[in-house]
Amino acid sequence: MDYNNILLEIHDNIALIKLNRPKALNALSPELMQELTDVLDRCEADPAIHVMVLTGNEKAFAAGADIKAMKDFSYMDAYKQNFITRDWERLTRCRKPVIAAVAGYALGGGCEVAMMCDFIIAAENAKFGQPEINLGIIPGAGGTQRLTRLIGKSKAMEMCLTGRLMDAQEAERAGLVSRIVPTDKLLAEVMNTAAQMAKLSQPVVMMAKECVNRAYESSLTEGLLFERRVFHATFALEDQKEGMSAFIEKRTPNFNHQ
Ligand code: CAA
Repeated sequence: MDYNNILLEIHDNIALIKLNRPKALNALSPELMQELTDVLDRCEADPAIHVMVLTGNEKAFAAGADIKAMKDFSYMDAYKQNFITRDWERLTRCRKPVIAAVAGYALGGGCEVAMMCDFIIAAENAKFGQPEINLGIIPGAGGTQRLTRLIGKSKAMEMCLTGRLMDAQEAERAGLVSRIVPTDKLLAEVMNTAAQMAKLSQPVVMMAKECVNRAYESSLTEGLLFERRVFHATFALEDQKEGMSAFIEKRTPNFNHQ
């Protein structure tokens, strides 16, 4: 299927999803977000896909929700459409891992979409921010919530209340991104990480993701109990037998994703 705002490339077990509205710095229009939802549905349903990578281009991951598309919205338009939530939260329901490869601007909804991914690898030129305050609105896709959990109250407050941008170094120090790589090597590095993950047991990677996400939604006691139950469940997998046998036999495991 062809998309107008997204390029989809399949590399072995990896889906590389490129936001592709370069003239608008990948502003996240309703059409683009619908296409992203469709791509994610397809990737989740395809057993050959183990990992998704979401990226933009060197200048912008995404410069936010499309300001031109929402400028004339009334309160009723926003309320009735449940604006932003409907097509935006598909990413948060992905069970397979999604890595954000961020170069250039990740602003407003762009920063929020990156934060909906499982982890962010940033190029040296990446810039993160929630500049909605300059437009007379507030972040609407998790900027006040996910950013605060990721980098703490003081920095999140400053970013949301002033619109100040963070460069890649500050974002790494604050815990927003897992690591920084040279801008011209971003895609190669992220695809390499994705390829390593794609070789691991797919159900175990999904279980690990589910457990880490639980940390955000439960008390420590509940989260630890959930982790222990899932940990016990891994012993039901052929991949656990293969992984441990391979270690003892000093060979590379050959997981069959069962
Ligand atoms: N929506 C629509 N179009 C956008 C856009 C956006 N969020 N960001 C950039 N563009 C468009 C510009 O209008 C411009 O188009 P034209 O050539 O047709 O005028 C084109 O992309 C290039 O942009 P600039 O000329 O502004 O490029 P620059 O290099 O001078 O500046 C920038 C780059 C600092 C990122 C600047 O474009 C900018 O500030 N963009 C807006 C960032 C922003 O406010 N994002 C939040 C949006 S609201 C939101 O996301 C709500 C939410 O929580 C979901």
